[in-house]
Amino acid sequence: MAGGVTTDVKAYSMFIDGEWVASNSAKTFPVYDPSTEEVIAQVPEANAEDVNRAVAAAKAAFEDGPWATTTAQERGRVLFRLAEKVRQNLPMLAELECRNSGKPIVEAEFDITDVATCFEYYGGLATKILGYVNPVPDNAMSLSLKEAMGVAGQIIPWNYPLLMAAWKLATALAAGCTCVLKPAEQTPLTALELARWFGEVGLPKGVVNVITGFGESCGSPLVRHPDVNKIAFTGSAAVGKIIVKEAADTVKRVTLELGGKSPNIFFADADFEAAIDGALFGVFINQGEVCSAGSRILVQKSIYKKFVEAMAEKAKKIKLGPPMERDTKMGALVSKEQYERVCSYLEIGKKEAKVASGGWRSDKFAKGYYVQPTIFYDVDNNARIAREEVFGPVAAVIPFEDEKDALKIANDTPYGLAAAVWTRDIFKAMRAVKALRAGVVWVNHMQPTYVEAPWGGYKQSGFGRELGPWGIEEYLETKQVYINLNESPIGWY
Ligand code: NAI
Ligand code: MG
Repeated sequence: MAGGVTTDVKAYSMFIDGEWVASNSAKTFPVYDPSTEEVIAQVPEANAEDVNRAVAAAKAAFEDGPWATTTAQERGRVLFRLAEKVRQNLPMLAELECRNSGKPIVEAEFDITDVATCFEYYGGLATKILGYVNPVPDNAMSLSLKEAMGVAGQIIPWNYPLLMAAWKLATALAAGCTCVLKPAEQTPLTALELARWFGEVGLPKGVVNVITGFGESCGSPLVRHPDVNKIAFTGSAAVGKIIVKEAADTVKRVTLELGGKSPNIFFADADFEAAIDGALFGVFINQGEVCSAGSRILVQKSIYKKFVEAMAEKAKKIKLGPPMERDTKMGALVSKEQYERVCSYLEIGKKEAKVASGGWRSDKFAKGYYVQPTIFYDVDNNARIAREEVFGPVAAVIPFEDEKDALKIANDTPYGLAAAVWTRDIFKAMRAVKALRAGVVWVNHMQPTYVEAPWGGYKQSGFGRELGPWGIEEYLETKQVYINLNESPIGWY
Protein backbone atom coordinates (compact mmCIF):
# COMPACT_ATOMS: atom_id res chain seq x y z
CA MET A 1 0.00 0.00 0.00
CA ALA A 2 1.26 3.45 -0.96
CA GLY A 3 1.79 6.43 1.26
CA GLY A 4 3.42 5.03 4.40
CA VAL A 5 0.29 3.75 6.08
CA THR A 6 0.08 4.05 9.80
CA THR A 7 -3.21 3.87 11.63
CA ASP A 8 -6.62 2.65 10.91
CA VAL A 9 -6.92 1.91 7.19
CA LYS A 10 -10.54 1.06 6.72
CA ALA A 11 -11.62 -1.15 3.82
CA TYR A 12 -14.92 -0.02 2.31
CA SER A 13 -17.27 -1.79 -0.04
CA MET A 14 -19.57 0.06 -2.40
CA PHE A 15 -23.34 -0.01 -2.44
CA ILE A 16 -25.21 -1.58 -5.36
CA ASP A 17 -28.77 -2.91 -5.31
CA GLY A 18 -28.94 -2.75 -1.54
CA GLU A 19 -25.78 -4.83 -1.08
CA TRP A 20 -22.23 -4.00 -0.02
CA VAL A 21 -20.05 -5.23 -2.83
CA ALA A 22 -16.49 -5.26 -4.13
CA SER A 23 -15.74 -4.08 -7.64
CA ASN A 24 -16.04 -6.62 -10.40
CA SER A 25 -12.27 -6.56 -10.88
CA ALA A 26 -11.72 -6.80 -7.08
CA LYS A 27 -9.40 -3.82 -7.46
CA THR A 28 -9.32 -1.12 -4.83
CA PHE A 29 -7.65 2.29 -4.56
CA PRO A 30 -6.38 4.30 -1.60
CA VAL A 31 -8.08 7.31 -0.05
CA TYR A 32 -5.93 9.85 1.78
CA ASP A 33 -5.91 12.31 4.62
CA PRO A 34 -4.41 15.29 2.75
CA SER A 35 -3.20 16.94 5.95
CA THR A 36 -0.92 13.99 6.78
CA GLU A 37 -0.60 12.38 3.32
CA GLU A 38 -1.52 9.07 4.96
CA VAL A 39 -3.82 6.45 3.50
CA ILE A 40 -6.98 6.26 5.62
CA ALA A 41 -9.10 3.89 3.56
CA GLN A 42 -9.30 1.58 0.58
CA VAL A 43 -12.36 1.67 -1.64
CA PRO A 44 -13.44 -0.47 -4.61
CA GLU A 45 -12.35 0.71 -8.04
CA ALA A 46 -15.48 0.49 -10.13
CA ASN A 47 -15.25 0.01 -13.89
CA ALA A 48 -17.81 -0.14 -16.71
CA GLU A 49 -19.11 -3.52 -15.57
CA ASP A 50 -19.83 -2.17 -12.11
CA VAL A 51 -21.57 0.79 -13.71
CA ASN A 52 -23.74 -1.68 -15.63
CA ARG A 53 -24.66 -3.47 -12.41
CA ALA A 54 -25.54 -0.24 -10.65
CA VAL A 55 -27.56 1.14 -13.56
CA ALA A 56 -29.44 -2.15 -13.92
CA ALA A 57 -30.35 -1.99 -10.24
CA ALA A 58 -31.48 1.64 -10.52
CA LYS A 59 -33.50 0.87 -13.64
CA ALA A 60 -35.21 -2.13 -12.05
CA ALA A 61 -35.96 -0.09 -8.93
CA PHE A 62 -37.52 2.61 -11.09
CA GLU A 63 -39.50 0.37 -13.42
CA ASP A 64 -40.42 -2.71 -11.41
CA GLY A 65 -39.45 -1.91 -7.86
CA PRO A 66 -41.65 -0.30 -5.27
CA TRP A 67 -40.16 3.17 -5.77
CA ALA A 68 -42.30 4.05 -8.78
CA THR A 69 -45.45 3.39 -6.76
CA THR A 70 -44.19 4.89 -3.50
CA THR A 71 -46.32 7.90 -2.64
CA ALA A 72 -44.87 11.37 -2.49
CA GLN A 73 -45.73 11.40 1.24
CA GLU A 74 -43.62 8.29 1.82
CA ARG A 75 -40.74 9.62 -0.29
CA GLY A 76 -40.85 12.73 1.84
CA ARG A 77 -40.76 10.71 5.05
CA VAL A 78 -37.76 8.71 3.79
CA LEU A 79 -35.89 11.98 3.29
CA PHE A 80 -36.87 13.26 6.75
CA ARG A 81 -35.58 10.03 8.30
CA LEU A 82 -32.33 10.32 6.36
CA ALA A 83 -31.94 13.91 7.60
CA GLU A 84 -32.46 12.68 11.16
CA LYS A 85 -29.72 10.07 10.75
CA VAL A 86 -27.34 12.76 9.49
CA ARG A 87 -28.14 15.03 12.45
CA GLN A 88 -27.67 12.17 14.94
CA ASN A 89 -24.32 11.28 13.39
CA LEU A 90 -23.08 14.81 12.77
CA PRO A 91 -19.83 14.50 14.79
CA MET A 92 -18.79 11.29 13.01
CA LEU A 93 -19.63 12.62 9.54
CA ALA A 94 -18.00 15.98 10.13
CA GLU A 95 -14.82 14.38 11.43
CA LEU A 96 -14.61 11.98 8.49
CA GLU A 97 -15.28 14.79 6.01
CA CYS A 98 -12.61 16.88 7.69
CA ARG A 99 -10.02 14.10 7.63
CA ASN A 100 -10.69 13.12 4.04
CA SER A 101 -10.97 16.58 2.48
CA GLY A 102 -8.55 18.62 4.60
CA LYS A 103 -11.14 21.29 5.39
CA PRO A 104 -11.36 22.75 8.92
CA ILE A 105 -13.62 20.79 11.29
CA VAL A 106 -15.76 23.85 12.03
CA GLU A 107 -16.52 24.23 8.32
CA ALA A 108 -17.19 20.49 7.98
CA GLU A 109 -19.77 20.77 10.78
CA PHE A 110 -21.58 23.53 8.88
CA ASP A 111 -21.52 21.36 5.75
CA ILE A 112 -23.05 18.35 7.49
CA THR A 113 -25.78 20.49 9.04
CA ASP A 114 -26.54 21.77 5.53
CA VAL A 115 -26.73 18.16 4.35
CA ALA A 116 -29.51 17.43 6.85
CA THR A 117 -31.30 20.68 5.99
CA CYS A 118 -31.19 19.76 2.31
CA PHE A 119 -32.82 16.36 2.91
CA GLU A 120 -35.47 18.04 5.08
CA TYR A 121 -36.23 20.69 2.48
CA TYR A 122 -36.78 18.12 -0.27
CA GLY A 123 -38.67 15.86 2.14
CA GLY A 124 -41.15 18.72 2.35
CA LEU A 125 -41.07 19.52 -1.35
CA ALA A 126 -41.84 15.92 -2.39
CA THR A 127 -45.54 16.52 -1.71
CA LYS A 128 -45.62 19.88 -3.49
CA ILE A 129 -44.87 18.78 -7.05
CA LEU A 130 -47.92 20.06 -8.88
CA GLY A 131 -49.29 19.72 -12.38
CA TYR A 132 -51.64 22.00 -14.29
CA VAL A 133 -55.03 21.98 -15.88
CA ASN A 134 -54.51 23.68 -19.24
CA PRO A 135 -57.40 25.84 -20.50
CA VAL A 136 -57.79 24.34 -24.00
CA PRO A 137 -60.39 25.65 -26.48
CA ASP A 138 -62.39 22.43 -26.72
CA ASN A 139 -64.70 20.12 -24.80
CA ALA A 140 -61.76 18.36 -23.23
CA MET A 141 -59.69 18.33 -20.13
CA SER A 142 -56.03 19.04 -20.73
CA LEU A 143 -53.50 18.29 -18.02
CA SER A 144 -49.78 18.64 -17.62
CA LEU A 145 -48.37 16.06 -15.30
CA LYS A 146 -44.94 16.05 -13.69
CA GLU A 147 -43.19 12.70 -13.70
CA ALA A 148 -39.81 11.45 -12.55
CA MET A 149 -37.18 11.37 -15.30
CA GLY A 150 -36.01 7.88 -14.43
CA VAL A 151 -32.44 6.85 -13.64
CA ALA A 152 -30.15 9.73 -12.68
CA GLY A 153 -26.35 9.45 -12.91
CA GLN A 154 -24.78 11.88 -10.46
CA ILE A 155 -21.10 12.77 -10.63
CA ILE A 156 -19.81 15.00 -7.87
CA PRO A 157 -16.59 16.74 -6.80
CA TRP A 158 -14.43 16.66 -3.69
CA ASN A 159 -14.76 20.18 -2.27
CA TYR A 160 -18.07 19.61 -0.43
CA PRO A 161 -18.28 15.82 -0.65
CA LEU A 162 -21.41 14.94 1.32
CA LEU A 163 -23.14 18.25 0.65
CA MET A 164 -22.82 17.75 -3.10
CA ALA A 165 -24.18 14.21 -2.65
CA ALA A 166 -27.14 15.63 -0.72
CA TRP A 167 -27.88 18.35 -3.31
CA LYS A 168 -28.06 15.64 -5.95
CA LEU A 169 -29.74 12.78 -4.05
CA ALA A 170 -32.37 14.77 -2.14
CA THR A 171 -33.71 16.40 -5.29
CA ALA A 172 -33.76 13.23 -7.37
CA LEU A 173 -35.45 11.19 -4.65
CA ALA A 174 -38.10 13.81 -3.96
CA ALA A 175 -38.87 13.76 -7.68
CA GLY A 176 -39.15 9.96 -7.64
CA CYS A 177 -36.01 9.16 -9.61
CA THR A 178 -33.52 6.42 -8.81
CA CYS A 179 -29.82 7.20 -8.59
CA VAL A 180 -26.32 6.06 -9.33
CA LEU A 181 -24.03 8.38 -7.41
CA LYS A 182 -20.32 8.56 -8.17
CA PRO A 183 -18.42 10.55 -5.55
CA ALA A 184 -15.06 12.07 -6.42
CA GLU A 185 -12.25 9.54 -6.18
CA GLN A 186 -10.50 11.75 -3.60
CA THR A 187 -13.46 11.89 -1.18
CA PRO A 188 -15.86 8.94 -1.36
CA LEU A 189 -16.06 8.13 2.35
CA THR A 190 -18.95 10.17 3.74
CA ALA A 191 -21.23 9.14 0.86
CA LEU A 192 -20.45 5.51 1.67
CA GLU A 193 -21.24 6.12 5.34
CA LEU A 194 -24.55 7.71 4.33
CA ALA A 195 -25.43 4.60 2.33
CA ARG A 196 -25.38 2.55 5.55
CA TRP A 197 -28.72 4.12 6.50
CA PHE A 198 -30.51 3.79 3.18
CA GLY A 199 -32.24 0.52 4.06
CA GLU A 200 -33.10 1.60 7.57
CA VAL A 201 -34.77 4.85 6.47
CA GLY A 202 -36.91 2.97 3.97
CA LEU A 203 -35.16 3.30 0.63
CA PRO A 204 -35.89 0.11 -1.32
CA LYS A 205 -32.88 -1.69 -2.80
CA GLY A 206 -31.53 -0.25 -6.01
CA VAL A 207 -33.04 3.20 -5.48
CA VAL A 208 -29.69 4.72 -4.55
CA ASN A 209 -26.43 3.07 -5.61
CA VAL A 210 -23.05 4.50 -4.66
CA ILE A 211 -20.13 3.47 -6.84
CA THR A 212 -16.54 4.50 -6.21
CA GLY A 213 -14.14 5.01 -9.07
CA PHE A 214 -12.28 7.37 -11.36
CA GLY A 215 -13.56 9.75 -14.00
CA GLU A 216 -12.68 8.02 -17.22
CA SER A 217 -13.17 4.42 -16.13
CA CYS A 218 -16.30 4.89 -14.01
CA GLY A 219 -17.79 8.37 -14.62
CA SER A 220 -17.65 8.19 -18.39
CA PRO A 221 -19.41 4.77 -18.73
CA LEU A 222 -22.16 6.17 -16.52
CA VAL A 223 -22.54 9.17 -18.82
CA ARG A 224 -22.66 6.94 -21.91
CA HIS A 225 -24.99 4.30 -20.48
CA PRO A 226 -28.21 4.09 -22.54
CA ASP A 227 -30.37 3.32 -19.49
CA VAL A 228 -29.34 6.48 -17.65
CA ASN A 229 -31.86 9.21 -18.38
CA LYS A 230 -30.14 12.15 -16.78
CA ILE A 231 -26.65 13.22 -15.75
CA ALA A 232 -26.09 15.79 -13.03
CA PHE A 233 -22.47 16.89 -12.83
CA THR A 234 -20.48 19.27 -10.69
CA GLY A 235 -16.80 19.67 -11.45
CA SER A 236 -14.34 21.13 -13.91
CA ALA A 237 -15.30 22.92 -17.11
CA ALA A 238 -13.06 20.56 -19.08
CA VAL A 239 -14.94 17.47 -17.91
CA GLY A 240 -18.30 19.25 -18.24
CA LYS A 241 -17.62 19.74 -21.94
CA ILE A 242 -16.74 16.05 -22.38
CA ILE A 243 -19.94 15.07 -20.58
CA VAL A 244 -22.14 17.17 -22.86
CA LYS A 245 -20.57 15.50 -25.90
CA GLU A 246 -20.80 11.96 -24.49
CA ALA A 247 -24.38 12.46 -23.30
CA ALA A 248 -25.44 13.64 -26.75
CA ASP A 249 -25.44 10.13 -28.26
CA THR A 250 -28.27 9.04 -26.00
CA VAL A 251 -29.88 12.51 -25.75
CA LYS A 252 -29.63 12.54 -21.99
CA ARG A 253 -30.83 15.43 -19.93
CA VAL A 254 -27.76 17.11 -18.49
CA THR A 255 -27.21 19.68 -15.79
CA LEU A 256 -23.76 21.09 -15.20
CA GLU A 257 -22.20 23.20 -12.47
CA LEU A 258 -18.68 24.06 -13.55
CA GLY A 259 -17.24 26.67 -11.27
CA GLY A 260 -15.88 30.00 -12.37
CA LYS A 261 -13.74 33.03 -11.83
CA SER A 262 -16.19 35.10 -9.87
CA PRO A 263 -15.69 38.86 -9.41
CA ASN A 264 -15.99 40.40 -5.95
CA ILE A 265 -16.35 44.15 -6.58
CA PHE A 266 -15.45 46.80 -4.00
CA PHE A 267 -16.51 50.41 -4.52
CA ALA A 268 -14.81 53.15 -2.52
CA ASP A 269 -17.96 53.87 -0.49
CA ALA A 270 -18.21 50.31 0.92
CA ASP A 271 -17.72 49.87 4.67
CA PHE A 272 -13.97 49.31 4.77
CA GLU A 273 -13.73 46.74 7.59
CA ALA A 274 -16.61 44.68 6.24
CA ALA A 275 -15.11 44.88 2.77
CA ILE A 276 -11.72 43.50 3.83
CA ASP A 277 -13.42 40.66 5.69
CA GLY A 278 -15.67 39.97 2.73
CA ALA A 279 -12.82 39.94 0.24
CA LEU A 280 -10.90 37.39 2.32
CA PHE A 281 -13.90 35.25 3.20
CA GLY A 282 -15.06 35.27 -0.42
CA VAL A 283 -11.85 33.72 -1.73
CA PHE A 284 -10.27 31.84 1.18
CA ILE A 285 -13.14 29.90 2.75
CA ASN A 286 -12.67 26.13 2.26
CA GLN A 287 -9.03 26.81 1.19
CA GLY A 288 -10.43 28.55 -1.86
CA GLU A 289 -11.71 25.23 -3.18
CA VAL A 290 -15.11 26.71 -3.88
CA CYS A 291 -16.87 26.88 -7.23
CA SER A 292 -18.17 30.38 -6.43
CA ALA A 293 -14.87 31.64 -4.94
CA GLY A 294 -14.50 35.41 -5.32
CA SER A 295 -11.11 34.89 -6.89
CA ARG A 296 -11.08 38.16 -8.85
CA ILE A 297 -11.15 41.01 -6.37
CA LEU A 298 -11.98 44.24 -8.17
CA VAL A 299 -11.13 47.34 -6.13
CA GLN A 300 -11.79 50.99 -6.96
CA LYS A 301 -8.55 52.90 -7.52
CA SER A 302 -9.21 55.55 -4.83
CA ILE A 303 -9.03 52.88 -2.07
CA TYR A 304 -6.88 50.34 -3.91
CA LYS A 305 -3.54 50.76 -2.14
CA LYS A 306 -5.02 50.85 1.35
CA PHE A 307 -7.26 47.90 0.47
CA VAL A 308 -4.43 45.65 -0.73
CA GLU A 309 -2.35 46.48 2.36
CA ALA A 310 -5.24 45.77 4.74
CA MET A 311 -6.08 42.52 2.98
CA ALA A 312 -2.49 41.34 3.07
CA GLU A 313 -2.12 42.20 6.73
CA LYS A 314 -5.26 40.32 7.69
CA ALA A 315 -4.49 37.36 5.40
CA LYS A 316 -1.24 36.82 7.32
CA LYS A 317 -3.33 36.23 10.46
CA ILE A 318 -5.47 33.47 8.91
CA LYS A 319 -4.64 30.42 10.98
CA LEU A 320 -3.42 27.66 8.70
CA GLY A 321 -3.38 24.43 10.61
CA PRO A 322 -4.41 20.83 11.17
CA PRO A 323 -8.02 20.49 10.00
CA MET A 324 -9.19 18.82 13.21
CA GLU A 325 -8.12 21.76 15.43
CA ARG A 326 -11.07 23.98 16.21
CA ASP A 327 -9.24 27.28 15.77
CA THR A 328 -7.92 26.33 12.32
CA LYS A 329 -9.25 28.71 9.69
CA MET A 330 -7.56 27.11 6.68
CA GLY A 331 -6.71 23.43 6.31
CA ALA A 332 -4.93 21.43 3.62
CA LEU A 333 -5.76 21.20 -0.07
CA VAL A 334 -7.60 18.03 -0.98
CA SER A 335 -4.92 16.10 -2.85
CA LYS A 336 -1.38 16.05 -4.14
CA GLU A 337 -2.72 16.71 -7.63
CA GLN A 338 -4.68 19.78 -6.54
CA TYR A 339 -1.75 20.99 -4.45
CA GLU A 340 0.56 20.76 -7.46
CA ARG A 341 -1.98 22.50 -9.67
CA VAL A 342 -2.32 25.36 -7.19
CA CYS A 343 1.46 25.62 -6.73
CA SER A 344 1.88 25.86 -10.50
CA TYR A 345 -0.52 28.84 -10.47
CA LEU A 346 1.57 30.45 -7.73
CA GLU A 347 4.54 30.33 -10.11
CA ILE A 348 2.45 31.67 -12.99
CA GLY A 349 1.09 34.44 -10.77
CA LYS A 350 4.55 35.54 -9.68
CA LYS A 351 5.41 36.18 -13.33
CA GLU A 352 2.14 37.94 -14.08
CA ALA A 353 1.60 40.16 -11.03
CA LYS A 354 2.91 41.31 -7.63
CA VAL A 355 2.61 39.33 -4.40
CA ALA A 356 1.00 41.04 -1.39
CA SER A 357 1.02 37.97 0.84
CA GLY A 358 1.72 34.25 0.72
CA GLY A 359 2.90 32.80 -2.57
CA TRP A 360 4.32 29.56 -1.20
CA ARG A 361 3.51 26.27 0.36
CA SER A 362 3.42 26.60 4.10
CA ASP A 363 6.71 25.53 5.70
CA LYS A 364 5.04 25.16 9.11
CA PHE A 365 4.24 21.50 8.42
CA ALA A 366 6.51 18.66 7.33
CA LYS A 367 3.62 16.82 5.66
CA GLY A 368 0.32 17.82 4.16
CA TYR A 369 -0.86 19.90 1.23
CA TYR A 370 -0.79 23.29 2.90
CA VAL A 371 -0.63 26.45 0.83
CA GLN A 372 -0.47 29.94 2.33
CA PRO A 373 -3.37 32.25 1.57
CA THR A 374 -1.95 34.15 -1.39
CA ILE A 375 -2.85 37.58 -2.70
CA PHE A 376 -1.63 38.77 -6.09
CA TYR A 377 -2.26 42.43 -6.94
CA ASP A 378 -1.90 44.66 -9.99
CA VAL A 379 -3.35 41.74 -11.90
CA ASP A 380 -4.41 42.30 -15.49
CA ASN A 381 -7.82 40.79 -16.21
CA ASN A 382 -6.23 39.01 -19.18
CA ALA A 383 -3.61 37.29 -17.02
CA ARG A 384 -3.99 33.55 -16.59
CA ILE A 385 -4.52 33.96 -12.84
CA ALA A 386 -7.49 36.20 -13.67
CA ARG A 387 -8.98 33.95 -16.35
CA GLU A 388 -8.41 30.38 -15.18
CA GLU A 389 -10.01 28.73 -12.20
CA VAL A 390 -7.27 27.96 -9.64
CA PHE A 391 -9.43 26.31 -6.96
CA GLY A 392 -7.07 27.10 -4.13
CA PRO A 393 -6.31 30.00 -1.75
CA VAL A 394 -5.22 32.38 -4.48
CA ALA A 395 -6.70 35.86 -4.95
CA ALA A 396 -6.16 38.14 -7.94
CA VAL A 397 -6.70 41.81 -7.07
CA ILE A 398 -7.54 44.04 -10.03
CA PRO A 399 -7.91 47.83 -9.86
CA PHE A 400 -10.76 49.68 -11.59
CA GLU A 401 -11.63 53.30 -12.30
CA ASP A 402 -15.41 53.66 -12.07
CA GLU A 403 -18.67 51.71 -12.17
CA LYS A 404 -18.66 51.20 -15.92
CA ASP A 405 -15.07 49.95 -15.82
CA ALA A 406 -15.85 47.60 -12.90
CA LEU A 407 -18.83 45.96 -14.60
CA LYS A 408 -16.94 45.57 -17.85
CA ILE A 409 -14.03 43.80 -16.15
CA ALA A 410 -16.42 41.73 -14.00
CA ASN A 411 -18.26 40.37 -17.04
CA ASP A 412 -15.11 39.89 -19.10
CA THR A 413 -14.73 36.17 -18.32
CA PRO A 414 -15.93 32.97 -19.97
CA TYR A 415 -17.58 32.01 -16.68
CA GLY A 416 -20.73 33.27 -14.95
CA LEU A 417 -21.42 31.38 -11.76
CA ALA A 418 -21.33 34.13 -9.15
CA ALA A 419 -20.47 37.76 -8.43
CA ALA A 420 -20.62 40.15 -5.50
CA VAL A 421 -20.73 43.91 -5.14
CA TRP A 422 -19.96 46.05 -2.10
CA THR A 423 -21.28 49.61 -1.82
CA ARG A 424 -23.53 51.75 0.38
CA ASP A 425 -25.17 53.30 -2.68
CA ILE A 426 -28.38 51.37 -3.38
CA PHE A 427 -28.64 52.69 -6.94
CA LYS A 428 -25.15 51.52 -7.80
CA ALA A 429 -25.78 48.16 -6.13
CA MET A 430 -29.01 47.55 -8.03
CA ARG A 431 -27.45 48.58 -11.35
CA ALA A 432 -24.69 46.04 -10.71
CA VAL A 433 -27.21 43.32 -9.78
CA LYS A 434 -28.84 43.79 -13.18
CA ALA A 435 -25.64 44.12 -15.18
CA LEU A 436 -23.66 41.20 -13.77
CA ARG A 437 -23.87 38.12 -15.98
CA ALA A 438 -23.89 35.51 -13.23
CA GLY A 439 -26.30 32.98 -11.75
CA VAL A 440 -25.76 34.17 -8.17
CA VAL A 441 -25.18 37.79 -7.13
CA TRP A 442 -24.48 38.98 -3.60
CA VAL A 443 -24.71 42.55 -2.33
CA ASN A 444 -22.44 43.39 0.60
CA HIS A 445 -21.63 39.74 1.24
CA MET A 446 -20.20 36.79 -0.63
CA GLN A 447 -20.81 33.02 -0.32
CA PRO A 448 -23.81 32.37 1.93
CA THR A 449 -26.38 30.32 0.05
CA TYR A 450 -29.42 28.32 1.06
CA VAL A 451 -31.27 25.25 -0.16
CA GLU A 452 -34.34 27.46 -0.70
CA ALA A 453 -32.61 29.53 -3.43
CA PRO A 454 -31.48 28.54 -6.95
CA TRP A 455 -27.85 27.66 -7.62
CA GLY A 456 -26.18 27.50 -11.02
CA GLY A 457 -24.31 29.45 -13.64
CA TYR A 458 -24.49 31.57 -16.76
CA LYS A 459 -22.15 31.13 -19.71
CA GLN A 460 -19.45 28.44 -19.33
CA SER A 461 -20.27 27.91 -15.67
CA GLY A 462 -22.88 25.44 -16.83
CA PHE A 463 -26.61 25.12 -17.22
CA GLY A 464 -29.61 24.07 -15.19
CA ARG A 465 -30.28 25.07 -11.61
CA GLU A 466 -29.92 23.11 -8.41
CA LEU A 467 -31.81 23.60 -5.16
CA GLY A 468 -35.18 25.11 -4.38
CA PRO A 469 -38.13 24.25 -6.59
CA TRP A 470 -35.86 24.85 -9.62
CA GLY A 471 -33.69 21.89 -8.66
CA ILE A 472 -36.54 19.42 -8.69
CA GLU A 473 -37.69 20.50 -12.16
CA GLU A 474 -34.37 19.18 -13.49
CA TYR A 475 -35.44 15.66 -12.45
CA LEU A 476 -38.97 15.89 -13.86
CA GLU A 477 -40.49 15.35 -17.27
CA THR A 478 -43.73 17.06 -18.27
CA LYS A 479 -46.48 14.92 -19.76
CA GLN A 480 -49.40 16.40 -21.68
CA VAL A 481 -52.66 14.52 -21.16
CA TYR A 482 -55.75 15.16 -23.28
CA ILE A 483 -59.04 13.76 -22.04
CA ASN A 484 -61.86 13.97 -24.52
CA LEU A 485 -65.20 14.89 -22.92
CA ASN A 486 -67.16 14.72 -26.16
CA GLU A 487 -68.87 11.32 -26.53
CA SER A 488 -69.93 11.65 -30.19
CA PRO A 489 -67.62 10.51 -33.04
CA ILE A 490 -65.13 13.03 -34.45
CA GLY A 491 -67.10 13.08 -37.71
CA TRP A 492 -64.12 14.07 -39.84
CA TYR A 493 -64.45 11.32 -42.49
P1 NAI B 1 -12.93 16.83 -12.32
O1 NAI B 1 -13.93 17.65 -13.06
O2 NAI B 1 -11.98 16.00 -13.10
O3 NAI B 1 -13.71 15.83 -11.31
C1 NAI B 1 -15.02 16.02 -10.84
C2 NAI B 1 -15.77 14.70 -10.92
O4 NAI B 1 -15.87 14.29 -12.28
C3 NAI B 1 -15.10 13.54 -10.19
O5 NAI B 1 -16.09 12.73 -9.62
C4 NAI B 1 -14.38 12.81 -11.31
O6 NAI B 1 -14.14 11.47 -11.04
C5 NAI B 1 -15.37 12.97 -12.44
N1 NAI B 1 -14.80 12.86 -13.79
C6 NAI B 1 -13.55 13.19 -14.20
N2 NAI B 1 -13.40 12.92 -15.51
C7 NAI B 1 -14.58 12.42 -15.95
C8 NAI B 1 -15.05 11.96 -17.21
N3 NAI B 1 -14.27 11.95 -18.29
N4 NAI B 1 -16.33 11.50 -17.30
C9 NAI B 1 -17.13 11.51 -16.22
N5 NAI B 1 -16.74 11.92 -15.01
C10 NAI B 1 -15.48 12.38 -14.86
O7 NAI B 1 -12.17 17.80 -11.33
P2 NAI B 1 -10.69 17.63 -10.70
O8 NAI B 1 -9.78 17.02 -11.70
O9 NAI B 1 -10.83 16.98 -9.41
O10 NAI B 1 -10.30 19.16 -10.49
C11 NAI B 1 -9.83 19.94 -11.57
C12 NAI B 1 -10.34 21.35 -11.50
O11 NAI B 1 -11.76 21.32 -11.66
C13 NAI B 1 -10.12 22.09 -10.20
O12 NAI B 1 -8.88 22.68 -10.13
C14 NAI B 1 -11.24 23.11 -10.25
O13 NAI B 1 -10.82 24.20 -11.04
C15 NAI B 1 -12.35 22.39 -10.98
N6 NAI B 1 -13.37 21.88 -10.06
C16 NAI B 1 -14.55 22.56 -9.95
C17 NAI B 1 -15.51 22.15 -9.05
C18 NAI B 1 -16.79 22.88 -8.91
O14 NAI B 1 -17.35 22.87 -7.84
N7 NAI B 1 -17.35 23.45 -9.94
C19 NAI B 1 -15.28 21.01 -8.17
C20 NAI B 1 -14.04 20.31 -8.40
C21 NAI B 1 -13.12 20.76 -9.30
MG1 MG C 1 -9.94 15.79 -13.34
